[in-house]
Formats: sequence, structure tokens, C-alpha cells
Amino acid sequence: MSTDLEREIWIDVCPLEELEREGVKVVSGEGRPVVIFFDQGRVYALDNRCPHMGFPLHRGTVTDGILTCHWHHAKFDLAGGCTFDPFADDVAPYRVEIREGAVWLDPRPQHKVSQEHWLSKLSEGLEQNIGLVLAKSVVALDELGVNAGLLRKAALFGVRNRAGGWSSGLSILASLANVLQSVDREDRPLALYHGMVHVARSTAGQPPAFDLEPLETTETRPERYTEWFRRFIEVRASDAAERTLRTAVRAGLPPETVADMIFAASTDHLFMDVGHTLDFSNKAFELLDHIGWEHAEEVLPSLVPGMVEAQRMEETSSWRHPVDLPGLLEEVYEELDSLIDEGGQGLTTWTGHEELAELVLDGEPAQVLGEIKDLVQRGVPLIELSASVAYAAARRAVHFHVANSFSDWNTVHHTFTYANAVDQALRRVPSKLLARGIFDGAMSVYLERFLNVPKQPVPEPSGRDVSREDVLAAIDSYGGVDETAQLVADMIAMGREEEVVQTLGHALLREDAGFHQFQIYEAGVRQYRQFALRPAGGQILIGMARFIAAHAPTMRSMGQTYDIATRLHRGEALYGQEE
Ligand code: FES
Repeated sequence: MSTDLEREIWIDVCPLEELEREGVKVVSGEGRPVVIFFDQGRVYALDNRCPHMGFPLHRGTVTDGILTCHWHHAKFDLAGGCTFDPFADDVAPYRVEIREGAVWLDPRPQHKVSQEHWLSKLSEGLEQNIGLVLAKSVVALDELGVNAGLLRKAALFGVRNRAGGWSSGLSILASLANVLQSVDREDRPLALYHGMVHVARSTAGQPPAFDLEPLETTETRPERYTEWFRRFIEVRASDAAERTLRTAVRAGLPPETVADMIFAASTDHLFMDVGHTLDFSNKAFELLDHIGWEHAEEVLPSLVPGMVEAQRMEETSSWRHPVDLPGLLEEVYEELDSLIDEGGQGLTTWTGHEELAELVLDGEPAQVLGEIKDLVQRGVPLIELSASVAYAAARRAVHFHVANSFSDWNTVHHTFTYANAVDQALRRVPSKLLARGIFDGAMSVYLERFLNVPKQPVPEPSGRDVSREDVLAAIDSYGGVDETAQLVADMIAMGREEEVVQTLGHALLREDAGFHQFQIYEAGVRQYRQFALRPAGGQILIGMARFIAAHAPTMRSMGQTYDIATRLHRGEALYGQEE
């Protein structure tokens, strides 16, 4: 029963007999169009905008209490607004009353706006892989200030519903969570939406994961778990590796120890799965940074299927011929432990990143490996060397000539994101075994040298005053790779690096971007921050801009869905809502 105060808000719509005669009426309720139907002796009111794409529902058909939208034929229960077709989402209902032969409407929509409601909708969107429901949930949760809960829900959904383990969707989610504070404030929910969509896609049609229980054991020695885990990954014994890892976490081994164990197994072979194995491992730890270590027992074992199946690059011809890179690397690894110990006696500050990167880019393998070994021995911190290799890898994208095959962008991408993963992982845990990744990353940069022939030069600043719109317009045109690089170089010359980061973030998020574009942006932003205020930092941004421009424009269907969700959420009319 409504109070007097509430009743003052109600709207006198029309005489009941008029609605009975016409069957449908549209009125404005608190700025939103409301449709009122008469059906078989009863009166119903709903938001007139179809929750799918905003088509006016008063143009739909009512049969036996079911409203059908004529655009994509979604069906709704007139009495509550719930949809029979999840792709369309529910429509907001309104209260109506008959008073003394007249129809009265409460203009306040009766849908729920709570965090629980939208988290439940988010689950529905993930389960059914429905972009629009995901977009609406993200927009509403962002308004309610709920980000961590949203990430946690998507992350756990992604690992529980994919027997094949960790997915590119989860890597995208982690990447976007990492750079959320680097993109424009208004682009942040859009970034999360991309993450949600990719998690939903990577689980769609997949069998769920069923966890193996940890061992019941009194074994607590970290070195024993590391030895077991590496052995089981080596022989591709997936179940044994999963149980070992879950037991290690349940036993309470510190996060650094567990990271050391996984990173060691991810570098026991060269550049595993073109770098994805270590990259995914690193991303899993980064995702746990966002959602909490208490989920490690569930999240980390999802890495195992990919680790046991990974291709080992020493098995490939390109790493064996004409130079036997595995042979050279094996010699390095044999003395790496003692070199690190020796260097640890006198750790030193060092700023030779650019010089080392030049050698990695253009030197011969033995010379490059010898120099890095020497620097380790002299006490240069491992993270300075890993950052140098990541910078060298980014330079491959800077100098990548567009005459190359388009698919070769993937080649430079793999090495850069691998080198970034080595660098980030070493910052998490300074593992001696993980340090091997510095060397095989450098060899992967070496293998790509022909992608810089001819060598695209670093653009010289032109002195032109470039706007953000100029950059976005260049990316908007097919083949605008070098033009984009020039514009970005001009912005950097004016000290506008942060604006470049935000502009490229916006350029990325407006596209139907794929896994590699998200990875490049995230790795590029993070490596740029290692080298900010140095020429290397600007060059990393230029390489990132060239990669993003090469993969744009796309159809931008994700942006369209997100735009519809945002406008529906704001109460805007998307199509003519004439009464
Ligand atoms: S079903 Fe109504 S707009 Fe698509």
C-alpha cells in the first residue's frame, strides 16, 4: 500500500476505458519513457526501451501476458519484465494502480540497483556469454564503486569453467586490471567490460574444471615441492603436477616460494610456447595481486595444462639452425648460479640499458650471451638486465618495416611480452632459475633481426603541435602505422607521454581488440614506466603505438554494445519513443 507522500508522485495516465480501447499508452516517467499495456483485464507498465537495443516496446506485440519486441523477437513477462531470452536482459517494471476508473503510474522504476543484483547479472552474462548483460553489469557496478568483486568473480569463473586451464581471456583480464589506472577514468569500465567478454568467450562451450585434491602429507620442504613440480612438468604429468602445486599452496608455502617453483618450471625449456607459458604464469600471479592470495589454490593449478602441453623451442629448427642456440644457452646455464652468486657480492647501480639493448639487437649470439654473463658476474642487478632485454624487444616493433608480412607483428609481439614477463616475474621473485629467461629472451630478439630489414628509423620530432584527435584519426585509417608513430613522437617531444598512454589506451579500447593488442599495451605501459623520462621510454611508446595502429580499425562492435548499455543505463532513448 502506498503512502500519501508516495501517492503525490504518482501520475494520472488516462481513464481505464481509454487504455482498454487503445491497448497501449506511452508516458514520460522521471525522464524515461514508460509503456502501459492493457491485456486480458489487467494493466502492466514497463520501461518502453527494449533492454536489448532500445527499440520502443510499445511497437511490440502482446499475447497471453507475453510481450514480444519486434526487432530481435525477445520475449518478456508483462507482469515482471523478466525476459524469456537472456540475450535481451530484463526490462524494468513500474507499479500501476486503478483508482476510480483511472490508470495511475508510479514513475519510479522497480528494478533493483544493488551490488548483489548486478554481480548476479554479471554471473549470468559470463555463463551465457552475453556481451550486453556484461556491459550493463560493469557499468552499474562501476557506478556503485565495485571493482574488486567484479574482478574476483570473473577470475574464479574463468578458472572453474575451463578444463583446459588458464586462458587468453584470463590474461586479458589481468592485463587490463594492471593498467586500469593508466587509462582515462571514463575508459575504465570499458576496459573491464573487454576483460569480462574475453573471459566469457574463453569458457563458452568448454567443459568445467574439476580440481584434484591436495595430497595428505607431512611434507613441508619447499625444495621438495619445487623438485616434484619441475619433474612432473618435464614429463608432462598433468595430474601429478596439479596435485603437487595445490598441496604446496595448502601447506602454506610463501607466495614467493610458489612463484619460484612455477617460474622455474616455466623456464626449464627455452621460450616455451613462444613465451606464453611464462607470460601466463606471471599473469596468474598478477591476477592474484588483484583478487587476493587466498584464491591461489584455485587459480594457480589452472596453469598446469598449458605448461605440460607447451612447445619447447629447442625442439624447433629455427632455434637449432644455423646457430645452435640451445647449445650456447646450456653452457651459460651451467655457470649461471655461480655467476649470480659472484655478482651478488658487490651489487652495483648500472645505467647501461640502451647500450646493452643495441648489442642484443645487432650482436651475434655468443657475443650477446657473453656480455650479459659478464654483467651478471659484475653485479648488475638481474632486473636491470631483464629490463634491457625487454627494451630491445620493444625496439623490434619500433623498427618493424610494414613491408613485412602482417603476421610477423605476432613474432615481435611474442618476444616483447615474454621479455616483459621475465622482467615482471624477476621483480616479484629474484630467482636464479628464472634468470635463464633473460638469456633466452635475448636470443629470441636475435632471431627476429630480419624483421628490421629494412630498418624503419625512429621518427624525428617535427615540432608540430599534435592533438589527441590527430593520433586517433591516424589510427583510424588503414595503414596509418608510420603516421601514428610520427604523431606520437611529436607528442613525446613535448613531454606529453602520459597523454600518449591514455590516448593509446582509448584507441585500443574502442576496437574489437584481440589478445595480442591487450598484451602489447599492458607490457608497453609497464616497460615505459621503467624507462620514463629517458629516450628508451618514448621509443617503447612508439613501438606500442605502431602495433596498435597496425591492428586498427576493426568493426568496433564491442564498443557499440557498450555504448548501448551505457545509454540504457543513463535512461537515454535510443530510438524514437513517440507516445
Ligand atoms: S529484441 Fe528488442 S531491440 Fe532487440
